[in-house]
Amino acid sequence: MGNFEVLERDGLARLGRFDTPHGPIETPALLPVVHPDPERQPVPPLEMRRRLGVRAVITSSYIIWRTPPLRAVAEAEGVHGLLRFDGPVMTDSGAFQQHAYGSVEVGPEEIIAFQGRIGSDIATVLDIFTEPETPHDAAAEALASTLERARHARSARDGLLAVPVQGGAHADLRARSAASASALGDVLAVGGVVPLMEQYRFPELVREIAAARPFLGSGSAVHLFGTGHPMTFALAALFGVDLFDSSAYHKFARRGSLLFPEGTVPIDDLRDAVCHCFLCGEMPLTEVARRPAEERERRIAFHNLLASVEEVGRVRRAIREGTLWELAERRATAHPAMRAGLEEARRHPEVFWPTEPESRRAFRETGPDSRERPVVVRFRARVREYAARRAGPWRPLSRIPLRPEYLARVPASDRSGVEIAWETPTPLGPVPLELTELYPIGPYLGIEEFSNPPRHRPPSAIAEDAARELADNFDLARDWADDWTRRQVRSLLDWQYGPEVAAGMAPSLVGERSRRTGRLRTLEDRAGTVLFHVGTDSVARPNYRGAERLVGHLEATRHRLVVADDAVPFVRGGRSLFARFVVHADPSLVPGMSALLVDRSDALLGVGRLVLAPHEMAQMSRGVAARVTAHAGSPETAEADETARPPADP
Ligand code: GUN
Ligand code: ZN
Repeated sequence: MGNFEVLERDGLARLGRFDTPHGPIETPALLPVVHPDPERQPVPPLEMRRRLGVRAVITSSYIIWRTPPLRAVAEAEGVHGLLRFDGPVMTDSGAFQQHAYGSVEVGPEEIIAFQGRIGSDIATVLDIFTEPETPHDAAAEALASTLERARHARSARDGLLAVPVQGGAHADLRARSAASASALGDVLAVGGVVPLMEQYRFPELVREIAAARPFLGSGSAVHLFGTGHPMTFALAALFGVDLFDSSAYHKFARRGSLLFPEGTVPIDDLRDAVCHCFLCGEMPLTEVARRPAEERERRIAFHNLLASVEEVGRVRRAIREGTLWELAERRATAHPAMRAGLEEARRHPEVFWPTEPESRRAFRETGPDSRERPVVVRFRARVREYAARRAGPWRPLSRIPLRPEYLARVPASDRSGVEIAWETPTPLGPVPLELTELYPIGPYLGIEEFSNPPRHRPPSAIAEDAARELADNFDLARDWADDWTRRQVRSLLDWQYGPEVAAGMAPSLVGERSRRTGRLRTLEDRAGTVLFHVGTDSVARPNYRGAERLVGHLEATRHRLVVADDAVPFVRGGRSLFARFVVHADPSLVPGMSALLVDRSDALLGVGRLVLAPHEMAQMSRGVAARVTAHAGSPETAEADETARPPADP
């Protein structure tokens, strides 16, 4: 289900969009919880939009239903008329009130019909709120009812439907709930977590989300009920949460608490100006603290909402830049409980692996924990596999600095005899020298780089001595460079495509280095035809001619996306490949990788860079699955392949 489209992504997190009758929602988005009674709104929705840029809100259809004057307005003018807001409005169903107050008078069918009558853009099924403490039997029974109601709601409603994901603390139930919701819902709303959120039980929260995550369909937006505190947004987004709903901005305001992404500050504790946003320009918080109760609450709520909106903006920027893990790590310092939550997230690396990209532009440590990010764990495991299959004796060479161009410093005596596989000490442990430009090692910016003296760099005196000695009796280009290049070419192909492809292709390839930086830049055949461009991330990406050679070496389906007949002419002409036209995708591919695009008879159409993970392509009806980077159809492209150069090395 769902019409969700991914535009950009960082791991599970996505910049996406989906359409509603009142316009698109761009995600991640904050849906502030708005009370349906205008008298009880500290910030009216229209003001949220005008002054804070809020595009969509959520309100309670149940409160409207049970309050006759509100209901009369909503039935006459719709929920948009009641809220005086013409953007997307999602409505909740009353499940939370049922949980909080013991019962609701409304039936599940009636509340769905009511949400339809008042013109809700996204209606929510009346689910059964399951506590984290609920035993398995009772949670399973409640889930069965929730699903029954969801099926009913789906058949009764044409418009967008949010299906809650319940199951309490039981991983099997969360998984089942997520899978069933995905078949029915346009929005998958992970629920039953407010107590965990309120009591700062973030590791449990993470366990519940991690259990559901692999079963949440990619074609629907994911909502997390009660993600109110801005310090939690980055962590939630890490798990691919697209919609945050916040009543926290108002709840905390009632208690006089200011929300910041770095934590909570009681307004009465303020003695100094801590904030210089436009609201504080109008009236500093120290002054707000002294205003009459009603005004004080209203101004704090506005401030809290601003802090939340700004944090969503930072999350969006981090996704675009590929730095969301970094942001989540920084936010984890807001509270030890947040840190415990992130630690729990690291215990589920397999949840992240299918969507962790092949490379990112940057890797910045925020602390030793950064070395346990799922992408690092995956890299280390792949290095171990690679090392295990590499022939020749291995031994660490402790004095080689990170950059292969410093290889000149290897003493001549070590270069003789059988092939030696050099290992370089790196912040992530020993890594074969030829892999040290790959993400996350290549762009790795660690604390050690700046400590004195850095541990993984040679003490400069030794390095200089070695360099002087080498300069005297060793010519890098003559004695070593060709060997080294041959080995690096083979290693990169081995890393990307496995040892058979490396053995088959490498002997016919020539690596060309940038004169300026010494990095590999292209792989060419002996006639000088460029077949691969090597990015600054050291990944060799085939052009069309390269793909033609590669396809014969890679057994059927490997590294391929099979394109549906309807889309073949478009892909051949260089247009993006849309998810709904992918017939099959090699499940070992991850976002950012270059795949061979073939038709059903395995004829090559082009090369595409993955935006989506293979399992997402199967689930999504909208959006680009891969951007075509080289294709057969156009002579210009063939020409461009010969002249194109990757962006200049930094
Ligand atoms: N609001 C907060 N938690 C929940 C939940 O689990 N279900 C619904 N429908 N609304 C909620
Ligand atoms: Zn401020």
